[in-house]
Parts: sequence; structure tokens; C-alpha cells
Amino acid sequence: MSLCRRSARAGDPLASKARGCHSVTMALPAPDTIVPNPLTSLTLAQLRERTSMKWRRYDPDVLPLWVAEMDVELAAPIRDELNRAVTGGDLGYASGTSYKEALSEFAKDRWNWEPSPSHMAPVTDVITGYVDIISMVTDPGSQVVVNPPVYPPFYSYLEAAGREIAHAPLGEDLRLDFAALESAFRDATAGGRSAAYLLCSPHNPTGTAHTRAELEQVASLADQFGVTVVVDEIHAPIVYDDATFVPYLTVNGGEHGFSIMAASKAWNLAGIPAAMVIGGTAVKEQVVRYAASTHHGPTHFGTLAQTAAYRHGGPWLDSLMQGLDANRKLLASLIDEHLPEAHYTMPQATYLTWIDCSALELDVDPSQHFLEDARVALNSGPLFGPGGEGHVRLNIATHPDIIREAVRRMGASTHRG
Ligand SMILES: Cc1ncc(COP(=O)(O)O)c(C=O)c1O
Repeated sequence: MSLCRRSARAGDPLASKARGCHSVTMALPAPDTIVPNPLTSLTLAQLRERTSMKWRRYDPDVLPLWVAEMDVELAAPIRDELNRAVTGGDLGYASGTSYKEALSEFAKDRWNWEPSPSHMAPVTDVITGYVDIISMVTDPGSQVVVNPPVYPPFYSYLEAAGREIAHAPLGEDLRLDFAALESAFRDATAGGRSAAYLLCSPHNPTGTAHTRAELEQVASLADQFGVTVVVDEIHAPIVYDDATFVPYLTVNGGEHGFSIMAASKAWNLAGIPAAMVIGGTAVKEQVVRYAASTHHGPTHFGTLAQTAAYRHGGPWLDSLMQGLDANRKLLASLIDEHLPEAHYTMPQATYLTWIDCSALELDVDPSQHFLEDARVALNSGPLFGPGGEGHVRLNIATHPDIIREAVRRMGASTHRG
């Protein structure tokens, strides 16, 4: 398959590479064989033709390393399944239990955990899942505890659903701070009020993978104060070899919690989501009631994609993880070289990296500076809540050459008089 379709835009710093276009010829891998690094198969010129948010929000001279989309081709088994559905007009309502079974098999294979399909309820997307569950287990006006800096929609959608956000900030080591958590749980439940804790595991934007001991401490505190734990585990498949993903529902005390999972981050299916609410063994009835209250749930198309990802996307994911591992290390060396004053801790999970730019002493929010002066789009730290000041979030799920050029530009922008 020739990957060289168009020449790059004039003036584009990566144009020569894109024009030369790596004329890669790739044989389509059969399932279960080694898959080439998905992060190096597309040229900048091809990426600039994308019409999704990542590539369309900013001007064409900007390198977009912001929203959590990946610059990859679709994994072959997912593409084949979607082609089959489109070609055959198989686009009706979702049906059957394949998605639940595929997720359960994937969890068994990767995390030695086999959640029962009878504890699962498909839901349109992850955000809808956590908003629905928190709305079900708390009263209007109740507090929801979150750990800033955290994924911004942890605030917006819950506030829109009439809940109040309470902060238990991460510690300086970017890990859960149990004194802060205890104090937030105590305040949230004062007077016998219902309260929930929305935990991001692994954590976006810091890439922290919570350990079993930490999660058990969460469960124990939640039990002590009567707080319902809802865990957003969308990034669970994206954990590097030096860390482990621990499903919350497998820890001691986790049986009272709810998890929301999806394949959409790990296989780049954000535009065709289909998530899954999973209840711990003690809350099965609530999940069944929730499932009965939802309308059609996710689309058939999204469900087919997630099912194919969990069932046949393992080799592609393994190759992606190797590429991401190389990129997170590359970013460390590029920051040393071009932005030595910035502070970057390599993520244990996710393709999102969290960079402390405070020591650069920029006059404006660093994301604004880098957009205007380096033509690199990053996520603005303050949008992630307290602790986000002076930070940016940089998405490494792209071609390493794009990361090289972006950090080179960022470094140059800080040295200009
Ligand atoms: C932690 C987290 N939760 C949820 C989402 C969005 O999920 P969905 O599009 O399924 O609502 C994202 C997207 O980046 C995320 O990082």
C-alpha cells in the first residue's frame, strides 16, 4: 500500500520529509502477526487532510499536539469490520452481547480479570456514562470529588448535571494525596449528604497509573465515608511496561464501585464511541436498572468497532505501545536539549504528557505562548483545574518527526529576544 498521496504544503518545515514521503510499501498484516509502528505510517501531508478536530482547529502551519486523537491509521481488524458493515448496509441498532464478551475476554487476557457481562451496560460514550451513574447515585446539589489537575470535562458536565465539584488535588509527586482525599470526603458527606468520587485511572493529564495499594486505600476511605466511587478507566489499555493497570473493581472494597471503559482512546475511535459501564459485584442491581433506563445505548457502528478492537486489536495495540514508549523517551531527550528549564515526568500510562513550564517565566499561559510564537498547539494547563497553572499537556501519539520539530520550535520560541 503506497502511503504517499499528496505533496506537503509549501513552507511546511516537515515538507521535505513529507514530499519524499517515505514511499513506504506496507503489506497489510494478518491478525496476530507483528504490526509496524502505527505512529510512523502517515505523512504530515496526509495528516493535514484530516477533517477531525485535532487537525482543523488551528491554522495549517500549526503542529497540533493537543486533543486526545492519535495520528494513526485504523487497526486492520477494525477497518475490515467497519468496511463489512458499510458495504453490507449493516447499520441498524446494536444487538447482542458480543461487545460485553469481547471486553471481558480482553480484561481477562490483559489484567487477569473477567468481569461478568451481567454487570455491564453499554452507554453512548464515557462522559455520558459517568454523568449518568453519578446522577443516579447522588442527589442534585451533591458534591463530586475529583483530583485536579484532571481532564476538564470532569468539571463541566457534572456541573451541568447540577453537582458541585470538590477538589482533592494530586500531591506534588502527581499521585493521590490521601490526606486531601479524606478531608474532601469528610466535607462532601457532612450532614449525611450523598457524595461521589470520580477517579481517573490511569490519570489524565499526568499519566499516573494508580497502584493496587493506592486503590485499596481509596476503597477503604470511600467505605468509611459512604462515598460512591466511579472510575473513568478509558486509558486502561495504554500503560507502559514499567507500570501496571489495576482495574478498580478488582481491589479489596472495589465491589461497591463503578467503572467506565471504552476502546476509543487506545484504538483511536473517538468519533465512533461506544463505552461500557461495569458495576462491582455489590452494585449489579443498579447497573441492571441503569441499563433498563437507557434508550438505544451506543450506535451499532461504534459497538462493532469497539468489539473488533478488544477482540482482534491486541497486536496493533502492542505495536502502538512500543511506538509510544519510544516517543515518551524521545520527548524527554528533546526537552533536555531544547527546553531544559521545563520539567517533564515521563507518563506511566496514556499518550498525554504533562509539562511544567513555570520556570520558563513566560508572560502568558504557556499554551498561548507556544501557539503564537512556536506555532505548536498544546492543551492549556489551567483548564485542568488547580495545579494546572504554568503547565501544558502535549499529546505524543504522533510521528516522532512531528514531536522533534514541535519541541525544536518551542525551544527556539523561548530564546527569541
Ligand atoms: C479521562 C477521559 N475520559 C473520557 C474521555 C472522553 O471519552 P468519550 O469521548 O467516550 O466521552 C477522554 C478523552 O480524552 C478522557 O481522557
